[in-house]
Amino acid sequence: MAGDFAIDWMAECASTNSMLVDTPPTDDGRIHVLVADRQTAGRGRRGRQWLSWDDASLTFSVLWRFRPGAPAPAGLSLVVGLALARALEELGVQGVQLKWPNDVLVHGEKLAGILIDLLPGRGRPPAAVIGIGLNLRLPADADVPGQAGVTDLARALEGAPPARTAILAAILGQLHRLLDTYSTAGFPALREAWMQRNAFAELPVRITGESETLHGICAGVDEDGALLLRTDAGLQRILAGDVSLRPHPGAAA
Ligand code: ATP
Ligand code: BTN
Repeated sequence: MAGDFAIDWMAECASTNSMLVDTPPTDDGRIHVLVADRQTAGRGRRGRQWLSWDDASLTFSVLWRFRPGAPAPAGLSLVVGLALARALEELGVQGVQLKWPNDVLVHGEKLAGILIDLLPGRGRPPAAVIGIGLNLRLPADADVPGQAGVTDLARALEGAPPARTAILAAILGQLHRLLDTYSTAGFPALREAWMQRNAFAELPVRITGESETLHGICAGVDEDGALLLRTDAGLQRILAGDVSLRPHPGAAA
């Protein structure tokens, strides 16, 4: 499987996602991966920042080209989260959970984040730049504004994390496997596995969008990867777009 990947490892760049979006490598049939030891402008969703510290993180992006006729990439960030969860489990992490649509948590604290940028096909099948930031060993004084709790692999494993190359290999292996399934069978084939790791299953949550906030019980995801929210007005379907999910202990069951 190693031959399927072309891995470029840089000391520093602004953002591995931005770099692959701005200058995508020529399609030579391989899956292009860009890793950076250090990002000077790591990005989250909607202009938010991804923070990393020297030797404290694994930050990389993968350029995934969809096969002609592949399903629309609904649910892609969930599939990537599942691949990341499985790779972490393979490395010995227990209690990995997924927060819809794009975070990986351990004991409710954020261990990794996913950022997906879609590239227009311009006559060819569309492609996605899949960015992953994984905390390995955060500095004791690390401050991550806007995040209730953060954690790192050293804490999750209660010991020194494996080498970054080994972690990367585990993640790429799972990503390859699950994206192949996703390309042929779509998200329905992976939905159950995602649901098993849903951090907020049957819990009260608050969904905050640009203009409105919804409260309800998290009832999982549907076959497109949309969040299902049980509210007083019935079951609502939430698309990932511009919304954030937060716990909401006060919501009615
Ligand atoms: P949402 O629920 O809206 O997806 P989010 O916190 O996942 O919320 P993103 O834009 O997806 O938001 O991710 C960026 C956010 O991740 C930042 O605003 C910050 O709170 C958090 N963050 C930044 N760096 C780190 C890090 N190293 N570890 C954990 N969390 C981080
Ligand atoms: C999130 O926290 O929800 C998304 C964070 C994604 C961070 C990764 S690090 C590698 C890639 N390059 C970026 O600028 N962002 C992603």
